[in-house]
Amino acid sequence: MHKFIKKIKKFETKPYVVRKFLDNEEIKSFQNLYEELPVEINNTRQKIIKKKWSLEFNKDLQKIYTQKLKKVIGEHEMDNPETKEGSKSLGLFQESYMPVTLHVDTGFDFEKTIYKQTLLPLTNTGETIIFKNRFYGCSTTFSIDPKELSAKGYNKRSSEHLKLFGSRDFDKETYNEYLKHEDINNLKGLEVDLIFKWKLGDLLVFDRTQLHCSSNNINKKKLGFTSSTKKI
Ligand SMILES: [Fe+2]
Repeated sequence: MHKFIKKIKKFETKPYVVRKFLDNEEIKSFQNLYEELPVEINNTRQKIIKKKWSLEFNKDLQKIYTQKLKKVIGEHEMDNPETKEGSKSLGLFQESYMPVTLHVDTGFDFEKTIYKQTLLPLTNTGETIIFKNRFYGCSTTFSIDPKELSAKGYNKRSSEHLKLFGSRDFDKETYNEYLKHEDINNLKGLEVDLIFKWKLGDLLVFDRTQLHCSSNNINKKKLGFTSSTKKI
């Protein structure tokens, strides 16, 4: 459990979208940067390729990105895991061919005051679903599938969310439209806060304590860039 929950909660807000956070040229730079970066993880089981934005790459774009981000979310520090070479990172590019399932990105250091997470779509189709439900333990993938629960990965695997949010059935209409890749019983007690429709140039901002997942709507593949932040 996170230690500074009171302080973390003080900075919590509703999720929001910043339209036209990047201009067309900046979007291109992000897409080119992705091509340039070395692969960090190629997970064939989850059909996802991850690359970290190491501080050695594209300093000019770093300046633009960090300044813009500060204007949007205020004072913060980056809080992204280092690359496997041990370099600091501004965030994670994820190229996914399968929907990402229900999880939370709260990290593993309970001494930190975790703050906002941002998502920058670099392809134009799909959605990210942000739930009102929050979690103050470590980064966890929530599932009731025994196979997933026994899988090894960066996140902890657990079904403890079902004890936290009550047993109310999840809304069927939303389920059918966006979440068919999940077992509807894995979503009991969950309530949607925001459905972010991916659009190039827009930025999604949400709290790191919020449960989220992608929708089942993928046109071959999705590419997005996420940063995690903390308060000092
Ligand atoms: Fe996430």
